[in-house]
Parts: sequence; C-alpha cells; structure tokens
Amino acid sequence: MKDLTVYPDQDRLVRGAAEFLTRQAMAAVEAHGRFTLALAGGGTPRPVYELLATPPFAERIPWTKVHIFFGDERCVAPTDQESNYRMAREALLDHVPVPPANIHRIAGEADPAQAALAYEAELRRVFPTGTFPDLDVICLGLGRNGHTASLFPGSSSLREGDRWVVPLYVEVLGAWRVTFTAPLVNAARQVVFLVSGADKAAVLAAVLEGPYQPEVLPAQLIQPQPGRVQWLVDAAAAAGLPPQAEGEHS
Ligand code: 6PG
Repeated sequence: MKDLTVYPDQDRLVRGAAEFLTRQAMAAVEAHGRFTLALAGGGTPRPVYELLATPPFAERIPWTKVHIFFGDERCVAPTDQESNYRMAREALLDHVPVPPANIHRIAGEADPAQAALAYEAELRRVFPTGTFPDLDVICLGLGRNGHTASLFPGSSSLREGDRWVVPLYVEVLGAWRVTFTAPLVNAARQVVFLVSGADKAAVLAAVLEGPYQPEVLPAQLIQPQPGRVQWLVDAAAAAGLPPQAEGEHS
C-alpha cells in the first residue's frame, strides 16, 4: 500500500503539504538539531513555499536551523526566470530568516559538469559520513513524461550508482540540468512527491500502478525504505488511480 494522501483540490493539497513540511521541520530539529530540506522546482510546489513563508507556518518552523538544498536546477543564472533557486527565493527564502550560509544552491550559471561536482562536494561537506546523505526531506514533483527532479526518460543519469549529483543534457528541452541521482534521493529520511492537476492523472497512475519501467518512468526509481515516501496529490491528479487507493486522509 502506497503512502498516498488524496486532497479534494489543489488548495487543500497546498495546505496539507505545508503542514507536512512544518511537522517534519519541527521533528527533525527536536531530534537532531537541524532540518535538511531539498526543494523541488516546477510550478506545483511554489504555492506551498509561499504558504510556508506566512503565518502560522512561518512562526512554527525553526528557520535558523533549516538547511535548504535543491534536488535539481536548470542551467541558467540564479536571476533567470527559469531558475529553481530564484523561484524558491521569491516564494520563500526572501521572507524567512534562514541564515544565508544555510542556503545551498546549485550553480546553474556554471559549467554543468563543474556545477554538479561542486554541489556534490558541498553536500559531502554538510554530510561528512562518506555514504549517501540522509536528508530529512526531499521534495519532488512529477513531470507528465514521468521524470522527477531532472531524471528524464532515457537519460544515462538514470543508471548512476555512485555519484550524488550529475549533469545531463535533456534532449526534449534542449537544455542542461543538474540533478540529484536516484540513490541519493533513496537515502533520504523522507521523500515527498507533490502532484496536482488532471494533466498528471495518466502519468501518476502509470508510475504507481503500472509495470516497472524506470527508463520510461524515472519516478519509479524513487524507492526509499518502506514508509519513507509520501505521495501528496489532489483529486484531479488521482483520477486515474484505482478507487481503493483514493480517499482523503488529510
Ligand atoms: C524542475 C523540477 C521538475 C518538476 C516537474 C514537475 O526543475 O522542473 O524539479 O522535476 O518537479 O517537472 O513540475 P510541475 O510541478 O511544474 O508540473
């Protein structure tokens, strides 16, 4: 049984996700003194980040103990409209007291291979154990083509077993990306997918209920230990799932 929560609409999904992240932040700081969070890009999480920057969520999160990472980045300047860092800054980071040194961005403006190496080095500095880091929460989206983070269908990055962060050229976008690898994501204490909208219904059903074909549906590579992945979706996105999987548990 998947850890799946179906919210009646996008607004309830956004509130549910904000509540989930707030609780994770409080629990992590209580348990080990900091909260390491990797953000997703794309449109779905933006209103969640905006909500986290406002009361009551903003007051409940111990921001000075939060470390922000990015699961992927577009290879553009941090000021570019396409930048995931820019989106997170505008929606959240400019409005809450996260220490600047705790904001770990991917250098989208740099050479992609260098940016990936530098980001892996930065992660190794913050997580010095040598093994894949156990971030407290990694947020992910789901693309209509089954990608997550920037793990795109057919990409050689899907078979990566050792690297934590890799560069890749995404043919369908004609653009470079830098992304967390699947083994890094799978080492997280908690992974949370945020999926909204009718245009995601078919791919969500294929990823969760269809045959395992990760070359086609890279999101299927995300399989942390049992209980460590949550799917927070709205009813429109859940429309293709079997009835027994539906129901609101928010
Ligand atoms: C990005 C992402 C990407 C995103 C999905 C879903 O940088 O674009 O991190 O993996 O999460 O494409 O995007 P939407 O939420 O916009 O549908």
